[in-house]
Amino acid sequence: MASDNKSIFRTKSIEAMLSESGKGLKKVLGAFELTMLGIGAIIGTGIFVLTGVAAADYAGPALVLSFVFAAIACTFAALCYAELAAMIPVAGSAYTFGYVGLGEIWAWLIGWDLILEYVVAVAAVAVGWSGYIVALLKAGGITVPAALCNPPGQNGGIVNLPAIIVLFVVMLFLIKGVSESTKLNNILVIIKLAVVILFIVVGIGHVNPANWHPFFPYGVNGVFTGASIIFFAYVGFDAVSTAAEEVKNPQRDLPIGIVASLLVCTVLYIIVSAILTGMVPYKEFHGNAAPVAYALAKVGINWGSALVSVGAVCGISSVLLVMTFGSSRILFSLSRDGLLPTVFSEVHPKFGTPIKSTVLVGVVTMVLSGFLQIGRLAEMTNIGTLCAFCIVSASVIVLRKKRPDVTRPFACPGVPITPAISILFCLYLIYKLPQFTHMVFVIWIAIGIVVYFIYGKGHSIMNFEEQK
Ligand code: ALA
Repeated sequence: MASDNKSIFRTKSIEAMLSESGKGLKKVLGAFELTMLGIGAIIGTGIFVLTGVAAADYAGPALVLSFVFAAIACTFAALCYAELAAMIPVAGSAYTFGYVGLGEIWAWLIGWDLILEYVVAVAAVAVGWSGYIVALLKAGGITVPAALCNPPGQNGGIVNLPAIIVLFVVMLFLIKGVSESTKLNNILVIIKLAVVILFIVVGIGHVNPANWHPFFPYGVNGVFTGASIIFFAYVGFDAVSTAAEEVKNPQRDLPIGIVASLLVCTVLYIIVSAILTGMVPYKEFHGNAAPVAYALAKVGINWGSALVSVGAVCGISSVLLVMTFGSSRILFSLSRDGLLPTVFSEVHPKFGTPIKSTVLVGVVTMVLSGFLQIGRLAEMTNIGTLCAFCIVSASVIVLRKKRPDVTRPFACPGVPITPAISILFCLYLIYKLPQFTHMVFVIWIAIGIVVYFIYGKGHSIMNFEEQK
């Protein structure tokens, strides 16, 4: 069923992908592990850091509605992901779906887009990690000089050293082939959930409803701008579909994992943002790198503040590991398909890991996190992710038309309306992002198109498959 021409829209066949899928991989994951994996990738810098920035600078107490709006956009996209992941349970996520549904050029662009999303997300998450470790050290009597824990242009910063250090350590771990242990992930997720729930239980008694007035200090418009920023907090549920080949019963478990992890996080985010803005006047969060810990300290619960900081550091570390791993895996897949030079899919003979792509990702993320502000990094991640969501949603519509015969263990309800709404919501959030972000994104995609025509089109393994 693969298209048999040299077109840039040539597609991979679902049947061929399924027959290749999961060879040699152990199928050990069930719906519970997948949900934990999703929560592991989702809860991190977004809720622990960006809530403060977004409340102070964009939405005020109405931030809770920003979380609701972003959740709606994600839910529509998640239903589309769930259909495709159950139908094509092959690692590679959106990139793979694009290859099957829309054709090579789209797959390449989505892969190129995912590189941006993951690499920049890793940098943003590392900056969030840095904020919490610095707060924790300070509580322990060690003050990191502002110049060494902020990027240029922020609080007299020169470089964000803790962010660089943590990324260096993560890179070493991944090079050595610390295999993704679901047990470790489960422990980190439980710690993370525990501190979020601790914050809710302890914080709720300290809400002063006066802090919710005015509710819309930046108008309704601020709610949507806020949503375009805190959208970052939801990034990661798509990571569930990258584990597709290691799932016992992918047709049943992948949709459950995707939807359940998103649901759990949505409920927690809405409660946390309401409590956070109720505990402290929203303006106080301006420039604050550890708002959740700050709110507890502000109402005098220092032990809670310290516990939340420890939990945030652990929890954000898990996001870093999963996302850095994901970045190198995307480079690896593109390279294996011939769209990027083979050097990125070379596996180290001793460690068994794609060492060169891991080092490349490590170095680039270190530079980005050391010198850029978290807001900029999160915005770039968001535009990349939102575009991926659009393409995945479009793939659902296209595949329903092109391949109605393929079994869909999970059918996204209301096609084509649901994917169409998903696309509209995502486009609207893209529109709300700053112009600078749009500009950088367009440049990135333009470079991607050039790279495809100069390199990928001629080197794609599809060229060789067609000659068979
Ligand atoms: N959603 C992830 C986080 O907030 C990327 O850290």
